[in-house]
Amino acid sequence: MQTTKATRTQVAIVGAGPAGLFLSHLLHRQGIESVILEHRTREEIEGTIRAGVLEQWVVDLMNGMGLGGRMMREGHFHSGITLRFDRRSHHIDMAELTGGKRVTVYAQHEVIRDLVSARLEDGGSILFGVSDVQFHDLDGKAPRVSFRRGPDAPPEELRCDFVAGCDGFHGPARQAIPAAARAEYQIVYPFGWLGILTAAPPSHPELIYANHERGFALLSTRSPEVQRLYLQVDPRDDIANWPDDRIWSELHRRLEEDAGWSLTEGAIFQKGIIAMRSFVCETMQHGRLFLAGDAAHIVPPTGAKGLNLAVADVLVLSRAIDAYYKSGGMEGLEGYSATCLRRIWKAERFSWYMTTMLHRNEQDSPFEQRVHLAELDYLVHSRAAMTALAENYVGLPME
Ligand code: FAD
Ligand code: DHB
Repeated sequence: MQTTKATRTQVAIVGAGPAGLFLSHLLHRQGIESVILEHRTREEIEGTIRAGVLEQWVVDLMNGMGLGGRMMREGHFHSGITLRFDRRSHHIDMAELTGGKRVTVYAQHEVIRDLVSARLEDGGSILFGVSDVQFHDLDGKAPRVSFRRGPDAPPEELRCDFVAGCDGFHGPARQAIPAAARAEYQIVYPFGWLGILTAAPPSHPELIYANHERGFALLSTRSPEVQRLYLQVDPRDDIANWPDDRIWSELHRRLEEDAGWSLTEGAIFQKGIIAMRSFVCETMQHGRLFLAGDAAHIVPPTGAKGLNLAVADVLVLSRAIDAYYKSGGMEGLEGYSATCLRRIWKAERFSWYMTTMLHRNEQDSPFEQRVHLAELDYLVHSRAAMTALAENYVGLPME
């Protein structure tokens, strides 16, 4: 009979996205052991193109952990954003409105690269390419996670005190909470984003969020040589319907303005379409399982909040786990979900607000479409409204 190899750690983390990697680093700094189980390869997680905007406190956290060196050299620091509609630009000076806060544009896969290499260098354990992850005994004091090191490898078991489900929206952790114990809230939007990377110089010193009658467009950046742009499209559309000249023509039309600004083109070397949804799972915990990041909630990308929220969850979780090991107190762990959900719902609200205001929704009535334009017009003429946008965009304070 085959015996299952068993190892032990304090915290089993499923998923090496931003949530799992930040958690492992935070625990390490508190002297708490963890093992990360990740089903993709290191090359895959380091090559997936996703988010780009880091809130100020996430940057401060990375620097405080000694992980911010490359980000501070290669990231881009933006103290404002531009909103564009009716062919006119409106600058929102976030730093001036928030007492000096700004955001940092530094690609998610670069953050992943920095966190993976630092964790491996300090002796951390990340198992890449695992399959068949399953959760056991979550209700008791000795939960277990079973897995294989590859599809044909023998089964193994990780015994632990706590399990962190950091496995993203499609991972298995959320389903390990009995359906009767969780409520799920969601909106699926009737539009998606077509994102590109292009080898071109920056066209503008800050991000441009554009509302246009043909749909939303966003200009972002990655480096002096590479720019990131997005177009609102039908989420069911096939990327094969978008040859490069069609993408550029659409970007020019949606981003152009009367003041004569122009968009610089370059070779497109990466493109894809993503669907958009808002989603929250309540509760985020069951027994000794704690969900964090996209495993528990999704925001549409318009507010640039997803990665930042994932980090906020694991900061709360790491503090609660630390308190448990220091004093045996369970209060932080018992209150984990409720603590996180207060921030999550505010980010959900902000992301929904930015999304509905900036996109054209065919399903909106003409009345609703005019209300969204009135919202934009109000926003750029009201210091109070701009301050509300700015303080959410740079990141609400951590409690
Ligand atoms: P993920 O990054 O999804 O990581 C989960 C990990 O778990 C993955 O590596 C996955 O392989 C692994 N996994 C899944 N199933 C299993 C399994 N069965 N076993 C083991 N491992 C498993 N957010 C921002 O803050 N700012 C932005 O500007 C921004 N822009 C975005 C733009 C786009 C185009 C997209 C798509 C997203 C954007 N986001 C943004 C959102 C952000 O990318 C996510 O919120 C973030 O990746 C969530 O991190 P996570 O660690 O929770 O989940
Ligand atoms: C980027 C992504 C976003 O979702 C956003 O709101 C701003 C910038 C980016 O990928 O650069």
